[in-house]
Amino acid sequence: MGRSTQKLSQEQKNSAQEGLSAGTTAKAGECNNRKLNIGLFGFGCVGQGLYDVLNHSQSLKAEIGKICVKDRNKTRSIHQSNFTFEQDDILSEKKHDLIVELIDDADAAQALVTGSLRKGRSVVSANKKMIAENFEHFFRLLLEKRTSFLYEAACGGSIPIIRTLEEYYDNELLRSIRGILNGSSNYVLTKMELDNLSYADALKQAQLSGFAESDPYLDVSGTDSKYKLCILTAHAFGLILRPSDILNLGIQNISEFDIEYARQRNKRIRLIAGIERSGEEYIVKVLPKFVSRTESLGTTDYEFNCIEVEGVYSDRQFFSGKGAGSHPTGSAVLSDISAITYDYKYGYRKLKKRINGHFPDFSKDADFIDKEFNLRLYIRYQNKSELEKLDINKVVEEYSSQSEEYIIADVGFTSLFKLLGEPNALFICEDE
Ligand SMILES: NC(=O)c1ccc[n+]([C@@H]2O[C@H](COP(=O)([O-])OP(=O)(O)OC[C@H]3O[C@@H](n4cnc5c(N)ncnc54)[C@H](OP(=O)(O)O)[C@@H]3O)[C@@H](O)[C@H]2O)c1
Repeated sequence: MGRSTQKLSQEQKNSAQEGLSAGTTAKAGECNNRKLNIGLFGFGCVGQGLYDVLNHSQSLKAEIGKICVKDRNKTRSIHQSNFTFEQDDILSEKKHDLIVELIDDADAAQALVTGSLRKGRSVVSANKKMIAENFEHFFRLLLEKRTSFLYEAACGGSIPIIRTLEEYYDNELLRSIRGILNGSSNYVLTKMELDNLSYADALKQAQLSGFAESDPYLDVSGTDSKYKLCILTAHAFGLILRPSDILNLGIQNISEFDIEYARQRNKRIRLIAGIERSGEEYIVKVLPKFVSRTESLGTTDYEFNCIEVEGVYSDRQFFSGKGAGSHPTGSAVLSDISAITYDYKYGYRKLKKRINGHFPDFSKDADFIDKEFNLRLYIRYQNKSELEKLDINKVVEEYSSQSEEYIIADVGFTSLFKLLGEPNALFICEDE
């Protein structure tokens, strides 16, 4: 396993120590309730949602200054004078003491968030892809700059899970976190089951309702869920996993046959992202799963998300709320803005506990992932040759009709990684 370390700068050492001993909550009274002037990037689904909820907020002392967007030809719902197309109009404007980043371009977002944090500005973001792909980069930067970077809306939409992990479970030994982390794919699954819609029609409705990402493949393939899982894993277990470390199989090949198969067994299909301890290692995956209609995960419908946290001592708690959409996501961003008014910062306590004068080599955290086990899977296929990639150790059921074929089998987990990055027609769902 990766145990090599890197020497810390004096600033990082001080900050890591401070975080360990004193926590990183507000210095009460010092900046409490100061008025913020926000430089906003993005005025799409979430940006407009934030604009609305901020305008209806009674007590929050914050106002939006300029809004930077991309498309000069788009018709806007508010006066054109609110907008700029030049990032620098916001980044070099000193009166913007808070940058809120709500754009759908992770690379552009990474550059502007990094630049803002380097200048010591506070930042709020909802960009799970950017955060998951650059987690260590931001963690190191925050240790140096000691500014606030909050991103509650990036995981579970309106569910306040990151601050809960940070503040409530900071000392709790956790066993597992699992949940439905993508509102769009959950909406598709619910619509297919309850309204008998085809996959294509259900996805179209999710897009029209503003739940889907600009590229809906990120939602339905489980990629978006694994970005969120990376972020939760860092806050809950102090592990920095890269998205490419995690297996994600999605619902993009699901059919009405699969929905009916689940219904016949009194089950539902849900796209579940989860991490659980397995001795010194962790089982981490994003996979569709047959869940019972009576368990908590099986009662989560439409764009709702849910997260079940299991602690060694606290046992199981269940959080549920709207995981996507303009106003629910905007309200999570608003809550972060409010937290910035009292200088709240994530403590990253579980990560900092791993630092003892030296940085662990976080790039080797994938070595903590357990891959040596079998999973019982339902696999519907169109071409039997696609099964050849998988280590099928035991077939417990086989079905074949003129139109549909599937097997239920125990499959070596590692072999599922061979399916990533190559298009295939398989629909795979975890069985009990
Ligand atoms: N939608 C949700 O329910 C949801 C939930 C949780 C998190 N998020 C996250 O929130 C972020 C925003 O999502 P969204 O759904 O609001 O996206 P969206 O509706 O597609 O809007 C994206 C906005 O970003 C602007 N933009 C894109 N590239 C830009 C650039 N380089 N510089 C300045 N502005 C740029 C666009 O400008 P134009 O208006 O000119 O096109 C648009 O206003 C994403 O990171 C997403 O993953 C979304």
